[in-house]
Amino acid sequence: MTTTVPTSAAAVPVGPGLSMFDPLFIGIDEFGQPVYLDVIYRNILIAGEPGGGKSGLVNNICGHGALSDNTRLVLLDAKLVELGPWRDIADAFIGPDIDEAISVLRRLLIVATNRYTWLLANRRRKLVPGDGMSVIVTIIDELAMFSTVLGTKQQQEEFAALLRGLVSLGRACGMPVVAATQRPSWDIIPASLRDLFGYRAAFRCTSLNSSNIILGQGWAEQGYTASDISPTNQGAAYLLAEGGVPRRIKAAYLTDNDIYSIADYAAWIRRPTTGVPAGSRTDWEIAA
Ligand SMILES: Nc1ncnc2c1ncn2[C@@H]1O[C@H](COP(=O)(O)OP(=O)(O)OP(=O)(O)O)[C@@H](O)[C@H]1O
Ligand SMILES: [Mg+2]
Repeated sequence: MTTTVPTSAAAVPVGPGLSMFDPLFIGIDEFGQPVYLDVIYRNILIAGEPGGGKSGLVNNICGHGALSDNTRLVLLDAKLVELGPWRDIADAFIGPDIDEAISVLRRLLIVATNRYTWLLANRRRKLVPGDGMSVIVTIIDELAMFSTVLGTKQQQEEFAALLRGLVSLGRACGMPVVAATQRPSWDIIPASLRDLFGYRAAFRCTSLNSSNIILGQGWAEQGYTASDISPTNQGAAYLLAEGGVPRRIKAAYLTDNDIYSIADYAAWIRRPTTGVPAGSRTDWEIAA
């Protein structure tokens, strides 16, 4: 008797191996130990002077999201090239267009409200993996472009207000926000928005004051200041996350080739014919 073993790729589709509910590897600490972040129920603010390594960390997080099961990416990047490699698998990829940015944030807020209505109906307060609902990660590289440069003052304020809404609402319904900016001072991001980010990563800064603006008042005086990071040590940062005390990290670095390879692989495993069973996507949630 002969046994037939299915060998075709179509019979056993490759699936994503990660989840946004898994700890996310972002680099090593000063003892060389791996550093993980729990991004799912947190919002992260990444800041520091130009060339410090912010976009590197942003791409790490985006890469994990891209390879994660049931995870959707909403990407805003006025510079296009930092998050552009992931655009084929993103639900939305917004370049230097404040109208589009405002529109996508409005839609995300509606999704968040729908999710809380569902949670309430199910007598729950937060999303868990077994719910089967997708995680929607919003990633913004160079936040200041949308909050201070593009569009009119009124549009910038509307953008900031909507983002404040998403950052305060998204956390428990599986919609975390990751934002990077060169300087999170009051003229770039209102303090009311900045303070909603629970996790902070401070890449090199030029002064104690700038570092304090990112990590929070008082840390520089206690010896935790991103101004002591050498300008040649790109990718080094102080991370304020679990534990409550900033820790020195070196972010893992993906070259352009790495990024494009991961993005291509993610696009392949997410292709609708195999990776994603027909009808399982819920694009209607944020479709225009
Ligand atoms: N973790 C890292 N390890 C080693 N080198 C790094 C790391 N992160 C960044 N670099 C180097 O620093 C350069 C600038 O990094 P990156 O573009 O991430 O900075 P940035 O803070 O986003 O700058 P900008 O504010 O101009 O956008 C990279 O091109 C790379 O050469
Ligand atoms: Mg950058």
